[in-house]
Amino acid sequence: MVSRPLSGGFASIRKAGALAAHVLDFVVPYVVPGVTTQELNDLCHQEMLRHGGTSATLNYQGFPQATCISPNHVVCHGIPSSRKLVAGDILNIDVTVLLDGWFGDTSRMFYVGTPPLKARRLTEVAYQALMQSISQVRPGGFLGDIGACIQHIAESAGFSVVRDFCGHSIGQVFHGDLAVLHVGTRGTGPVLQPGMIFTIEPMINAGRPEVRVLQDGWTAVTRDRSLSAQFEHTIGVTETGVEIFTLSPKGYTCPPYGESA
Ligand code: MF3
Ligand code: CO
Ligand code: CO
Repeated sequence: MVSRPLSGGFASIRKAGALAAHVLDFVVPYVVPGVTTQELNDLCHQEMLRHGGTSATLNYQGFPQATCISPNHVVCHGIPSSRKLVAGDILNIDVTVLLDGWFGDTSRMFYVGTPPLKARRLTEVAYQALMQSISQVRPGGFLGDIGACIQHIAESAGFSVVRDFCGHSIGQVFHGDLAVLHVGTRGTGPVLQPGMIFTIEPMINAGRPEVRVLQDGWTAVTRDRSLSAQFEHTIGVTETGVEIFTLSPKGYTCPPYGESA
């Protein structure tokens, strides 16, 4: 009946989460016009390895790269490539590390130069949707409170929430069984309990919510080619509220980030 103290699992995933977040901090100055997504991937990969971690995505169900990099109308699971970024692009970099047997999973948006106002607004709304939904998390709350919050923020801003992908429980497995929907109804779904660890990772589209997966079997794009933005944190339910395991060590939140602005 006695479960492992929260601090056990939380102490371990804290380190994995901090490393994943560090990698996103580290890559900031390299996100400039002319860089390829492959180069950004390789920089992130080297940084994970340098700190004793490995990439959880490399060879995961056949995924061929150490990170997912998803520019502009790519919703998620973009495969790093020889594509060169250009000023005005927005992109998501999603890093999942495995460190000492625990997974840390986080993603942020990045700007190349100064993107158009609508792209920046979309990015800011995606960030607010994630952070506001995290602030809903507390023991005794409901999983549905999270999706309801995200959906309200995104749709109030005139954007849409992607239905085809969700957050997930995480810990000593990458993708656990719990599905964290990014739309929903308050007061519904599983009750949040201390010790639960999962991601929240809303994908917000400027246009319609539908996605299409390209021939490569991974790259998800908006069907209407509208822009898409996503942020992701790995979080834990505590006795009193919530802990975010993937906060930026440098204090970065939403772009533009100091060094890239
Ligand atoms: N990091 C992604 C997530 O947030 C999963 C990527 S799986 C991959 O769950 F195979 F596409 F890399
Ligand atoms: Co995830
Ligand atoms: Co991720």
